[in-house]
Amino acid sequence: MLFPAYRPRRLRRTENIRRMVRETELSVSDFIYPMFVIPGRGIREEINSMPGIFRQSIDKLIEEIKEVKDLGIRAVLLFGIPERKDEIGSEGYDEDGIIQRALREIKREIKDILLITDVCMCEYTSHGHCGIIKASSPHSLGGEEGDVSNDETLQYLARIALSHAKSGADIVAPSDMMDGRVGAIREALDENGFNGIGILSYSAKYSSAFYGPFREAAESAPQFGDRRGYQMDPPNVREALREISLDIEEGADIVMVKPALSYLDVIRAARERFDYPIAAYNVSGEYSMVKAAARLGWIDESRVMMEILTSIKRAGADIILTYFAKDAARVLNSHGK
Ligand code: PBG
Repeated sequence: MLFPAYRPRRLRRTENIRRMVRETELSVSDFIYPMFVIPGRGIREEINSMPGIFRQSIDKLIEEIKEVKDLGIRAVLLFGIPERKDEIGSEGYDEDGIIQRALREIKREIKDILLITDVCMCEYTSHGHCGIIKASSPHSLGGEEGDVSNDETLQYLARIALSHAKSGADIVAPSDMMDGRVGAIREALDENGFNGIGILSYSAKYSSAFYGPFREAAESAPQFGDRRGYQMDPPNVREALREISLDIEEGADIVMVKPALSYLDVIRAARERFDYPIAAYNVSGEYSMVKAAARLGWIDESRVMMEILTSIKRAGADIILTYFAKDAARVLNSHGK
């Protein structure tokens, strides 16, 4: 038999060796846990399509944030579901809006949890779009096509972000995809003495069907048209890099790719190009699919979850926004480290 003198061979993979040569390590501090807050007291209702995720009033939210913190998770992302919706989403920047009240109450009760707020208009507008609808839009006359006015929207977004900062947000996260909003928000924050407040920008946010369950949760489905006019077209990756570099120029501190799973190549490309912290949003549909298949007994939920989260980190994300944060933290905390 002809063997070369030396044959490359793989290490035998015992658990100790696997641990030693592992290239990607998930950590509980990578996670940001998204949460939904609604008006009222004592309310905690599970979202149908997102088992384990709740829409809850501030008091219940605070209880869950304590639990989140005890698991070692350091940050939550808050979405507000307002009492009232109108054409301009005015509760979004109201000092007594749902998010502003939540921020103040959480700050009073809990120390040392990073509070990140979603800055967008779709949950607050009666039409469900992420911005102001042009007066000339056929929609305002009952037509089919909605037309969001980018430039008019910027001042509203800046106003929302500023009101969140005033109420205690540590980081604001614009998710609307209007051009120039990072710059507008940065300027408004700095002018008002909030230069220490960070911006996590949803830089490359695709127009995705994976947001379906979220729209049910946040009651934010557009009432007409869709978001293709301002969200990114899924086939594009170079455009994502352009969007990210613009956001960095405008002053974003962390840039995000969303969704995560169908866009792992975008995360990788961003990682190779930019020396900035990169976040990835493992969105509602990605969560629901796993939960649904697990309920049917078709997959091993816990292993699939960890494999997915690891793939997002391996692709290059430093930070993962995920509804799995608590479940994954439990798994990580139970591993003898
Ligand atoms: C918009 C927003 C959306 C999500 C986060 N912020 C939905 C959308 O653009 O329709 C989706 C998050 C998810 O699916 O988990 N404010």
